[in-house]
Amino acid sequence: MLQTNHPPRHPQFFRSSSRLAPGLHRRSLQRNLVPSSIEPLLGGPTFRMLQASSFIEWAATYAADVSSEFYRKPLVEKVTKVMSRVAEHRFGGPWTEIKLDAVEYYLRFYASALKAKGFSLWYIDAFAGSGSREVDREVGGILEGAPIETRQEVLAGSARRALAIDPAFHRFVFIERDERRHNALQTMAAQHPGRRIEVINGDANETLLRLLSTPPWNRGSPPAGHRGVLFLDPYAMTVPWTTLQAISATRALDTWYLFPLGAVGRQLAHDFAAVDMTKANALDRIFGTPDWRTALYQQDNALDLFGAAGRSHRKADVRGVERWFHQQLETLFPYVPPPIPIITDTGHRSFSLFFAMASENPKAISAAKSCMRSLSRQFGDGASRQTSGP
Ligand SMILES: C[S@@+](CC[C@H](N)C(=O)[O-])C[C@H]1O[C@@H](n2cnc3c(N)ncnc32)[C@H](O)[C@@H]1O
Repeated sequence: MLQTNHPPRHPQFFRSSSRLAPGLHRRSLQRNLVPSSIEPLLGGPTFRMLQASSFIEWAATYAADVSSEFYRKPLVEKVTKVMSRVAEHRFGGPWTEIKLDAVEYYLRFYASALKAKGFSLWYIDAFAGSGSREVDREVGGILEGAPIETRQEVLAGSARRALAIDPAFHRFVFIERDERRHNALQTMAAQHPGRRIEVINGDANETLLRLLSTPPWNRGSPPAGHRGVLFLDPYAMTVPWTTLQAISATRALDTWYLFPLGAVGRQLAHDFAAVDMTKANALDRIFGTPDWRTALYQQDNALDLFGAAGRSHRKADVRGVERWFHQQLETLFPYVPPPIPIITDTGHRSFSLFFAMASENPKAISAAKSCMRSLSRQFGDGASRQTSGP
């Protein structure tokens, strides 16, 4: 029998029906939110009404979560197509600024710390987007003495922010699978003559494996004269453990990884019997080990009515899953501080922004630790989390 997941509810569907297309009732949307009927929803006027930034992320994550390949493939294709039709790149929310501020803070620290060391400094953005992102901002109101209106603003994405770092990185690699965003990145690169920027249209994992197996990255570990920062900013469970292994093997690329804690949590069904093969394969791929079965699940002691051994249930909550993945990362990278929690508009800890330092140099690690302490005061659990954005 074909397996289907019920999609995680997107808050905007249920919070305000005024956002829905005319004639579309909340209930009918709810009914429609099953894999076989989500396609028209993504393609038609409804989608244009609902193309709020986080919907795109939600749809992509949902597409990746659908258990059955039969449903998943066309859905992923459709989501990708619709996303590329949207000329502008809309994603995230205020939490996106936290993510980008944290990475930018580290890039500034890194570029000035290594300025005089004679290295060629690289910035590699494997899920680079378009370079910018559009957000809606409400302005006006009583305090401003003007009618309330929604204005669209264009903010710098990770690639544009990295290009603005001073002292500058020497080499930039921007990888993006979507053709239109790749074209936007090329336009952005053309606006920076004199900078060494490579824009690659392709899959992040395949491209990284190719890149890291060619000079300078395959010339020693670490390669003489080259150091860098790498940013992995996927929407969903897109980065397999093998990619992290290749990065760690360079001993030269400090990595920021937006780990999709929410999507991973949805694969880890409470009852182990509900973790079907598609989910288990996705978890093996992202964790790089089958050990999650014993680390995150526990066998129930009670025997069932027929005396058979009990079932297994998940013993780790979402923070436990995060802690376990943290330990996994520590087996690959010499220094991995606790991640920055990324809490989205669902109020959930949907992503964990991990920093994983590839360098084994004790002085570099000690400097990075002090940078991370400062970032944790700004963005860690319980911090005020003031961002640079609107
Ligand atoms: C969250 S966005 C990145 C945003 C970007 N870091 C920024 O700040 O502007 C994720 C991007 O990854 C791209 N993407 C998704 N899967 C990919 C893959 N397998 N390889 C390369 N790019 C991918 C999407 O098209 C999207 O532009």
